[in-house]
Amino acid sequence: MDATASPENIDIKLFDMVLCFSRAIDFLHPKISEHHLRVAYVASCLAEELRLGQAQIQEALIAGALHDVAAVSSEMHFDLFDDAVTRYHDGSVRDTGNLHQHGWEGYLLLRDFPPFAKAATAIRFHHVNWNFGHGREFKGEHVPLSSHVLRLADRIAVLPDNHRNVLEQVAGIRKTVADGNGRWFMPAVVETFDAVAEKESFWLDLVSKYKEQIINSRFGDSRVSLGLDGLYQLARIFGRIIDYRSPFTAAHSSGVAATSEELAFRLGMSATQKRLIGVAGNLHDIGKLAVPTEILDKPGQLTTQEMLIVRQHPYYTDRILSMVPGLETVNTWASLHHERLDGKGYPFRSREIPLGSRIVAVADIFTAITENRPYRRGMNRAQCLAVLERLIADGAIDGDVVEDTNVDWQDKVQQVLAANFLHLHHNMI
Ligand SMILES: [Fe+2]
Ligand SMILES: [Fe+2]
Ligand SMILES: [Fe+2]
Repeated sequence: MDATASPENIDIKLFDMVLCFSRAIDFLHPKISEHHLRVAYVASCLAEELRLGQAQIQEALIAGALHDVAAVSSEMHFDLFDDAVTRYHDGSVRDTGNLHQHGWEGYLLLRDFPPFAKAATAIRFHHVNWNFGHGREFKGEHVPLSSHVLRLADRIAVLPDNHRNVLEQVAGIRKTVADGNGRWFMPAVVETFDAVAEKESFWLDLVSKYKEQIINSRFGDSRVSLGLDGLYQLARIFGRIIDYRSPFTAAHSSGVAATSEELAFRLGMSATQKRLIGVAGNLHDIGKLAVPTEILDKPGQLTTQEMLIVRQHPYYTDRILSMVPGLETVNTWASLHHERLDGKGYPFRSREIPLGSRIVAVADIFTAITENRPYRRGMNRAQCLAVLERLIADGAIDGDVVEDTNVDWQDKVQQVLAANFLHLHHNMI
């Protein structure tokens, strides 16, 4: 992609985007390595062994790779997630209604993107126990086989102790699964697991980096290319998940996207570039998934140490997005959003800042200072303009981006932000 980007030469693969996001959410769970990647791997092995079709194998991969997206959202869910992987899985935590909440919220977050619709349903019920057949339904709704596959895959993914040879642990893990047969896990899925578990290669792949190649090839020949519209829609979904972690940034990414698009339009960028900058806006803070929620939501000043952690996020945005072939320009626009024209920004200290990145930088500042944060209320128009003007005078941001557009852009953008916020709010209740 370059300045002449057209919708036809946007060739980004759905599964590359899913994997990139999956790796990003795994940043949040340092206690367990590669949880989402592992669940995707196991779920796809089970789907293959069950002789499900290619579409269902892909669905299992997507569901596994994204199943706990909503468990990353807030402090409560994060604790719950910890419970889910530590105590719940060994049976010492009761199956509370709350445990299903992140499945439900994950479903709500993902269901609007058509290629995720089925995986979203699997995710919705991924903590439903088989409960001797009662788990065919949950609160009157049919629970699909894919949810029971995910249920067992989730469990298998967390059981190996990384400090010991996995092959030494196979018998113990198989016994744990057998003990839960019928109670937690659907017998047909356990039977399938037993066949898979015979192979040493299954276990070695589970704990090795090679599984990534395997799941990539399993996604297969039909690796879907997203096209501009698909990429745009997907970025909106991911932006919503990034924002959803904290009530204080509930519409931040979509706000930066909307603001960037408006500025790009006013600066004469092409329709394609305008949409791509919307993608960059939605993904610019993906690296914030590596910042703990208690720091994001902290009411009051951050300590120096905490500030250093927050300031790492554009570095992670770059490293995460750089793994997606075809996304190079979007990545540059997204991950340079804390750079300054005078080279005093972070983390690259770059002076060569393309127009797209300068737009996202202004959009980020504008959106951030106009939204309420734990430690202050959003600024009004006059205060906001004063901040932007000071930053231009300081040599931080591009005055052309702020001023050479029609002066009324802030009003327009604020209307968009308000509409976005209402839409998100409405969607999640
Ligand atoms: Fe979960
Ligand atoms: Fe999980
Ligand atoms: Fe940022």
